[in-house]
Amino acid sequence: MFPDHETLIQGAAEKVVRLGAEAIEENGMFTLALSGGSTPRPLYALLAKRTLARSIDWSRVHLFWGDERCVPPGDPRSNYRMVWESLLDTVPIRPANIHRIHGEEEPKRAATAYEQELRTFFGSNAADGSPLMGFDLVLLGMGEDGHTASLFPGLSAVTEQVRWVMAQFVEAIWRITLTPVVINKAKNVIFIVSGSEKADRLHEVLEGPPQPKPMPAQLIRLVQGQLLWLVDEAAAGRLRRAR
Ligand code: 6PG
Repeated sequence: MFPDHETLIQGAAEKVVRLGAEAIEENGMFTLALSGGSTPRPLYALLAKRTLARSIDWSRVHLFWGDERCVPPGDPRSNYRMVWESLLDTVPIRPANIHRIHGEEEPKRAATAYEQELRTFFGSNAADGSPLMGFDLVLLGMGEDGHTASLFPGLSAVTEQVRWVMAQFVEAIWRITLTPVVINKAKNVIFIVSGSEKADRLHEVLEGPPQPKPMPAQLIRLVQGQLLWLVDEAAAGRLRRAR
């Protein structure tokens, strides 16, 4: 648990750098899926700053998105645009290694295309179609309603068992989201949660009974990887056990 949003972001950045170095050391690349929303933006900006930026071999980084809004990449609501402005415009990542979700396309077609790109990149099990490999790291946020990525309470992607990527119409906009099928195969998932407005839900997600349909953040249960919750004191205000 971190005292405030600033130290939370600093702690998250150091963790991302460490996991990136380990992945590159082990496999020669770092596959990182980014979250949208407002919480991680300063994290991306920090990773772009000289000191930390020099700690990552960006030529070995493959960037993906956990979800995207179905808008053009230049739209203010685009998660790609947010990452471009805070990180991609600064670091020497190879354009071919930026695996953008094409939010400007018809939603279902964009979801199918992104799933195909992921299947080609990670490989899929011939028997059940599940991912052969997982992301080195998936960064996730959590909404006040317990959603994560674009896995919102009651929507079909929450109970999906086969598809890796789905289009979902929620809050008056189409979104493309990774499903738990591919997120749960990740080697590492880090939730970054900040602010007192999340405290009640965070308590329910972490310490309440399992109710993944109304609280999709509970769906994230890694097959073999490490799940980490990085939270600040404000968000942790209702937790019984310090984390
Ligand atoms: C998005 C995110 C979404 C976000 C949560 C928390 O595209 O908006 O993927 O799942 O992580 O809504 O958002 P905040 O970090 O802004 O509270």
